[in-house]
Amino acid sequence: MNKIRAAITGIEASVPEYILTNQELEKMVDTTDEWIMSRTGVKERHILKGEGMGMSVMGAEAVTKLLEKTNTRPDEIELLICGTVTADMKFPAAANLICHKTGIVGALSFDINAACSGFIFALETAARFIETGKYKKAIVVGGDKMSSMMDYTDRQTCVIFGDGAGAVMLEPRTDGTGLIDSVLRTDGSGHEFLYMKAGGSAYPATFETVERREHFVHQEGQAVFKHAVKNMADVSVEIMQRNDIAPNQLAWLVPHQANMRIIEATAHRMGIRKEQVMINIEKYGNTTSGTIPLCLFDYEKQLRKGDNIILSAFGGGFTWGAIYLKWAYDPK
Ligand code: UT7
Repeated sequence: MNKIRAAITGIEASVPEYILTNQELEKMVDTTDEWIMSRTGVKERHILKGEGMGMSVMGAEAVTKLLEKTNTRPDEIELLICGTVTADMKFPAAANLICHKTGIVGALSFDINAACSGFIFALETAARFIETGKYKKAIVVGGDKMSSMMDYTDRQTCVIFGDGAGAVMLEPRTDGTGLIDSVLRTDGSGHEFLYMKAGGSAYPATFETVERREHFVHQEGQAVFKHAVKNMADVSVEIMQRNDIAPNQLAWLVPHQANMRIIEATAHRMGIRKEQVMINIEKYGNTTSGTIPLCLFDYEKQLRKGDNIILSAFGGGFTWGAIYLKWAYDPK
């Protein structure tokens, strides 16, 4: 029998209505549309507004639409993994809340915290469950409400990030489609360049931590940029080479959308053309775990069964990696 692989068999997404433009940011911090566009490639980002509206609101909307689109009943879902660093609360997991909001009862569900690599780490994890043959239908969600930990007085970070989520259905396939290979890595020494200091067990919330603005993302942009360019390109090239994929045999690179210059550097090292790269950073900015599923959703109609696709990400931790998969279906 052919090997069981985990294949993406459907995709949906959810982005909030409110759009924060560069022009609006120009009124909030000392920045310009020209600087943001030329240094990052972001034109606008979506922001989830409203009291009590957490990441699970977007995750649940994506999952509800995914169940409808794939004609799946909630009780068929056996596993739901959510990649996020902005769960509604420290616990329970966003995955638990998403299941609750979408009528999925009794499934195995949990979160994966791997910052911007959250979606690919979660996808790899879910794939292993599917490959055992025991799990037939799994959902992987990737998404973040980055606005919940953004300091809108810090011009270096607030211009990059936005909110959004996507969800994919994973099912077993034996026709050669699905996840084929992965290179996933972490290096905890990178923690000092990208983190949110307070609110965890080391520095629980106090009046002082709030005053010191420690409940916001702290990023040393240049250091993160250098590591991102090198590591995202290294793993993307490594996975191409060890699977004997020539640049013209790759249908799509789906890179994490953190900065247009990181995306371009990765594509350049892989020797591929811009037309082979999914890019939507202009519309959404960096939605952390949301970027890769949002790209797949936006480009779904252009994907064909058998397409060679590489997903690639880099994020806080540091975490990074690449996944090679063959797309499982033609546009419907
Ligand atoms: O998602 C996972 C991980 N995150 C990333 O991959 C992000 C990686 N880092 C980056 O994308 C970039 O480092 C940033 C976009 C964050 C910053 O871009 P940069 O080209 O590295 O800028 P910089 O920090 O070197 O700053 C250059 C100049 C500075 O001014 P001076 O010192 O040269 O006068 C900054 O103060 O640009 C200034 N600057 C700004 N100016 C206008 C920084 N942010 C802004 C801004 N508007 N928003």
